[in-house]
Amino acid sequence: MSSTLSKSTTPATFLRSIFPDRTETFSCDQLDAAGTALDDLIDVEYDWNRLEPPASFADFENRWAHRDDRLAFSGVWRFHSLLPFAPPEKVVTIGEGQTLLHRADTVARYVGMNDGCLHLQYEGMNPSGSFKDNGMSAAFTHANTIDATRAACASTGNTSASLAMYCAATKKMRAIIFIGSGKISKGKLSQALDFGALTMQIAGDFDDAMARVREVCRDMGIYLVNSVNPFRLEGQKTIMYRVLEALRWRVPDWIVVPGGNLGNSSAFGKAFAELLHLGLIDRAPRLAVINATGANTLYELTENRGLCWNGGQPDLAIVDKYYAELDASGRRADTIASAIEINRPVNLLKCLRSLETCNGVVRETTDQEILDAKAQVGAGGLGCEPASAASVAGVKRLRTEGVIAPSDTVVCILTGHQLKDPTATIAYHTTDQDEFDQVLGSRGVRRASYANRAIAVPNDLTEIIKAIQLYG
Ligand code: F0G
Repeated sequence: MSSTLSKSTTPATFLRSIFPDRTETFSCDQLDAAGTALDDLIDVEYDWNRLEPPASFADFENRWAHRDDRLAFSGVWRFHSLLPFAPPEKVVTIGEGQTLLHRADTVARYVGMNDGCLHLQYEGMNPSGSFKDNGMSAAFTHANTIDATRAACASTGNTSASLAMYCAATKKMRAIIFIGSGKISKGKLSQALDFGALTMQIAGDFDDAMARVREVCRDMGIYLVNSVNPFRLEGQKTIMYRVLEALRWRVPDWIVVPGGNLGNSSAFGKAFAELLHLGLIDRAPRLAVINATGANTLYELTENRGLCWNGGQPDLAIVDKYYAELDASGRRADTIASAIEINRPVNLLKCLRSLETCNGVVRETTDQEILDAKAQVGAGGLGCEPASAASVAGVKRLRTEGVIAPSDTVVCILTGHQLKDPTATIAYHTTDQDEFDQVLGSRGVRRASYANRAIAVPNDLTEIIKAIQLYG
C-alpha cells in the first residue's frame, strides 16, 4: 500500500489496525487511507519514547493553576499529554469535560452497597448534556488538522446533538446527521435542529443509519465523527482521567458503563492500558459493560457464545453467525433506553480488547430495571437519561450475583442528562395509565415502584392546604 509509512518515517503519533499482527502504520492525516487500506478498526498509537508523557499525575494538578489557558480549562485538554495527537494551536475546545464525580449514598443503598462506595461520574454536565462532547472535541481537533469542512454521524441523538453544537459554536464544519425514524428522543432532536444541523431522517433504525452514513462519508469525502473514528475515543479516555483525579489517583475496583456502540468501553480500556504502560497506575479497574436486554449483542456474544479478544485473535465466525441470525429473524434493537438501542455496535472488537485489559464482565438489564434505577438516581439528586441508568441497574445485578462486593469502590458513568428524554421520565411518574401503557407498557415495564406522582387538586385554597397536610 503506497500510503503506508515506512519504519524510518513513522511519526511519534500514528494510526494502526487494532489487530496486533497488522503492523502497517499511517500518519494521523491519513485517516481515510488507513480506513480503506485496513478495513479494520483503527487505533491512534503513540511512540511514548519520542513524546513527553506526564511523569506523574501531579503534573495535571499543577495545570489547575492556569485556568485562563483554554487547554488547561478544558476537562479533556487538561490531559493533552495523554492524547498528544495535535499541536495546541489546532485544539478545538468549547469548555467540555467540566464534570464531577459524586458520592451517591442513596443510590448505593438501592443497589446494596455500603455508604461511600458508589460514585456517579456525571457526564450530563457537558455543554451538550452528554459525554459525547469529550470525544467530539477530540474529533474536531483532528478534523481541524486536516481542514475538513463537513462532518457527519449516525446517531441515537447525543452524538448528533454534540456534533451540531460544535459546528454551530465553532463554524469550522457543516453538520450532517443521520437519525433513525422515530428513534430519537425529543430533547436530542430539538438540539440538532436548534443548532442548525442538516438532519436526515432515515426510514430505518440506528443500525441502518450507521451503515448509510459510512457509505455517504466514503463516497462524498465527508468527515465521519461516529466513534469508529479513533480520535473520538482519544477524547473519551479523559473521562477516566477525571475519575482517577477525583479519587486522588486511586484506582477504583469497578468502572460500570452502559454499552451501545461501545465507544466508551473501548476508550476506557485504552486509557488504562496506556496508563499501565506508562507506569502511572499499577493495576486496571475491572470494567462492567451493561446492555439493555432489547439490544444485547455484546452480552449475547460474550457471556453466552464465548466471544473474547483472545489476545487479538477473536473468533469472528461467532459474530458473523449471530448477525446472520439477527437478519434471518428480522430482530431489531428495542429498548426504552433509546441511546443504546443498537444491535451492531461498531466498536465491538475494541470493546472485547478492553474487557481483556480490565478483566471485564458484561450484563444485560431490562427496561423495568433501567427505569427503576433511573428513578433512584433522580431521587439521589442527579438525574440522568434511561441509557445512563443501565449502569446503576447493572451494579444492582452484579451485587445480587456477588460479583461486586458491598465495600468495593464502584464508579458508574452517567452518560447523559436527565432532560434529554423527558418522555420516559414523565411516563414513569404519571398517574395516567394510558400514557404509562403507551410509552412503557409496550416495553414490558409493569410497575413504577419509585414513582413520584403529581397530586391533582381543585383550584381551591382549603383543598390545596388539606392535600399538602396529607402528603407533605
Ligand atoms: N449513553 C448515552 C446517553 C448515549 O448517548 C450512548 C450512545 C451510550 C450511552 C452508549 O455509549 O456507544 O459508547 O457504548 N449514543 C450514541 C449516539 C450511539 O448516537 O448518541 P457507547
